[in-house]
Amino acid sequence: MRIRALRVNHLENPVGFRMESTVFSWKVDGAEGKRQRSARLLVATDPDFRELVLDTGVDTSLDSVACDANFVKMPRTRYFWKVSVTSDAGEQAESETAFFETGKESEPWQAKWISCESDEARHPIFTKKIKPNGEIRSARLYICGLGLYEAFLDGKRIGDEFLAPGCNDYDRWLQYQTYDVTGLLSDGAELAVLMGNGWYKGRFSFFAADTKGRYGQDFALIAELHIDYTDGRHTVIATDESWRVRRSHITFSGIYDGERRDDTLPEMPEEAVMLLPKDTAKLTERMSPPVRVFERLPVRQLIHTPTGETVLDLGQNFSGIFALRLREKAGSRIRLQFGEVLQDGNFYRDNLRSALAEYVYISGGEEITLSPHFTFYGYRYVKVEGAEHISPEDFEGLAISSLGTRTGFFKTGNELVNRLIENARWGLLSNTVDVPTDCPQRDERLGWTGDAQVFAETAADLYETQAFYAKYLFDMAMEQKDAEGMVPNYIPSRGERKASAAWGDAACILPWILYRVYGDPSILKKQYESMRAWVEYIRRVDGNDHGWSRAEHFGDWLALDNESGDPNENSGATDKGYIAQVYYRESVRILARTATILGWNEDAAAYEKLVEKLSDHIRYEYFTGSGRCSVNTQTALLMALRYSLTANREWTKNRLRELFFLKNDKLLTGFVGTPLACETLSDNGMDDLALKLLLNEDYPGWLYAVKLGATTIWERWDSLLSDGSISGTGMNSLNHYAYGSVCHWMFARIGGIRQCVDSVGFRRVHIEPLLSWKLKSAEASMDTPCGVYSCRWRIMDPSHVEIRVTIPFGGEAELVLPGAKEKQPVRVLSAGEYSFAYETAEPFVKTLSTILPLGELLEEAEAREFLLSAVPQLSLINKSMQGTPLRDILLFAAGFEGLPSRDEMENRVLPELDEKLQLLEVSK
Ligand code: BGC
Repeated sequence: MRIRALRVNHLENPVGFRMESTVFSWKVDGAEGKRQRSARLLVATDPDFRELVLDTGVDTSLDSVACDANFVKMPRTRYFWKVSVTSDAGEQAESETAFFETGKESEPWQAKWISCESDEARHPIFTKKIKPNGEIRSARLYICGLGLYEAFLDGKRIGDEFLAPGCNDYDRWLQYQTYDVTGLLSDGAELAVLMGNGWYKGRFSFFAADTKGRYGQDFALIAELHIDYTDGRHTVIATDESWRVRRSHITFSGIYDGERRDDTLPEMPEEAVMLLPKDTAKLTERMSPPVRVFERLPVRQLIHTPTGETVLDLGQNFSGIFALRLREKAGSRIRLQFGEVLQDGNFYRDNLRSALAEYVYISGGEEITLSPHFTFYGYRYVKVEGAEHISPEDFEGLAISSLGTRTGFFKTGNELVNRLIENARWGLLSNTVDVPTDCPQRDERLGWTGDAQVFAETAADLYETQAFYAKYLFDMAMEQKDAEGMVPNYIPSRGERKASAAWGDAACILPWILYRVYGDPSILKKQYESMRAWVEYIRRVDGNDHGWSRAEHFGDWLALDNESGDPNENSGATDKGYIAQVYYRESVRILARTATILGWNEDAAAYEKLVEKLSDHIRYEYFTGSGRCSVNTQTALLMALRYSLTANREWTKNRLRELFFLKNDKLLTGFVGTPLACETLSDNGMDDLALKLLLNEDYPGWLYAVKLGATTIWERWDSLLSDGSISGTGMNSLNHYAYGSVCHWMFARIGGIRQCVDSVGFRRVHIEPLLSWKLKSAEASMDTPCGVYSCRWRIMDPSHVEIRVTIPFGGEAELVLPGAKEKQPVRVLSAGEYSFAYETAEPFVKTLSTILPLGELLEEAEAREFLLSAVPQLSLINKSMQGTPLRDILLFAAGFEGLPSRDEMENRVLPELDEKLQLLEVSK
């Protein structure tokens, strides 16, 4: 038995993070027992646990998923902790020692904000000579630099994170970081802090014309270096007027526009620093998990394009920077530009709009390895200009993200589907650079609430995400304070003062998803005020006459069913008022449940009443008396089923099927409908249609992009047209994760692992995989807060299947063996590994023959290909005949249009067709 995955507030050994609560969690592997009988948690200020600050004693109620153990914490203190667990079989294990460390907390800052005197454009490096006088026991640097900073001790980079201090509403709160620099201090060390513009003071806005930073115009640095000596002395070196500033070779930096560096520039004399009249009240311990390099991507191909450009192809679209080794003559100017796609074989970047996304370097003549400091790019291709020598080994892409721990793995027997999952995973990693963004490449990269909301479940299937979203939600709550509860469309808002349904509802939906996935109610407690403020904001706008329906909303963004003909109309056909009211009701429903969980019964009762009122209104306004939805779109009906709004589920299901049928079973849905589509179909007995949507390889559909070589998820169903040309430049990103939300359904249904409705933290799951001949097999594994659940299935022959499942220590699953011949009970499984092999009631394949309706035969790609080549006249058959058996059609048409006589048809052609059709194995 082994204890692993020790976390505090869902972070591994966090140093200097904001700690309003202290929630411990751990997982147990390799036990004989099924669950924890008791546990004991110890917290001490020393690694030998002599100075205990918390000892829970052996406790049968300690929750391994979220153990909220509050105690008084001191500032700037490292706490060590461990847990011992006894299983229900009597085994015992003790964890390794983990730690967490507090920041300055309420301790006042001795440091002052400093800036530069001159407004020289070269980026500043603030410096201070440090002379330790004695043997150092420990040293910490507490630091915040605005726009962005990187700190060095004797030229050695402190920490391994990028783009600190992160991106948030700087008007309201400023995050400072804490670094352990104990091993880095030497006699006479130089502490140097290089600064860049970033989100704070650079061009960064939805309004691309903005050229200046919104939050401030000056570089601003505050830092305290605390040194503890072994003899007990404690000294603080803080930013003040004694610091100096020199100039770097970086002449420009910007999130959108890249970076410029000129190594021919002469060194400049050091300058004095200037004190900034800025207080420290907004400084708080960090919440952002660090942005780190998680993968280094080699160049896959060096391309010489038809127009003569030199382009590097990394084979994968991603967010990141690079490392480039160069040895060029002094004064030569090398320019790199970054793009997502080639057009006609040439470099292309018009879909980045005004973002320059480049790196310009003037060589000083030395061999150098370059990396930008204060920007990032969303790219796959790099155009290189001005370099005499460049070979693929000189360049490496450095992919960055705030997410570090992968939890979800999923694979099927279909390579296109597997690539789709990879694309969603890369989309996630690309759009988690401190903020959940819409896209990482163009002049936008904003924390759009709607995109975050629709993708958060998939994100949590794939990676540990709680701390990442917790920071975003904290920022959201801050923003709401200035906006009477309104949730701006993107966070941080940079002054945006609009809210939309299904976007702002992220305020309720996100904390709820986190609570369900991670099982930690502290997120609900922290966000309750924000959730309530959002609902109350809508209530005010809604007034007595449902004004929320008439407010400005994005609707079913980018859906394909808007037939207005206006190319600027992006909202789809689903009534925006309907979407607004349904999401309003959903937010209130979540709020009411949250109030119940937190024990605020009065609120719970009041909000439950409001849910009823809204349900009545929605039914009155958008449904007929018998329960038919009057908004006649795929998205509207999906919502009606998903949120149980229809009094006539059967009619709604049938109508939905019909709507799909009329569009050849293709999706027309946008940002609102798409994330609901497959799950809602599966919930309503339409697995077949859900699978068909997934496996459709034509436009519009997920695999269409995969077949066109996509390595991430696109913003639009047709971001590229079928000939590979880009469909437009106004709003067309190739790295937008929203539609990748179908992966959550894949984990839950194809993989078969879905959390039971009344469970949180994955304590109880329902396992019932969706078996498909077209996929042949699937393997899903999820490292949940309870531990790893996995489900692997394989179709062995047309009527036999094998299923293997793993249930973690402390977890439980109800298992349904799908399609079994003999009636199978619902099995309740506790921790362990199980495997089942059985015969299915019906074979997975159906036998094709000419007695099947023509339409059904033509739907099968192989059958269609064969039939149309054997009997080309079939392409002339009217659509209304699709329901007629092929045999009848051919006998009727015999002798016409060059077809053989009836006799020959009956005795030769039909038997031949049947013989060939039977050989095609087609899934049901
Ligand atoms: C973004 C979206 C966002 C939308 C709002 C776009 O510019 O890229 O993903 O949700 O605007 O409708």
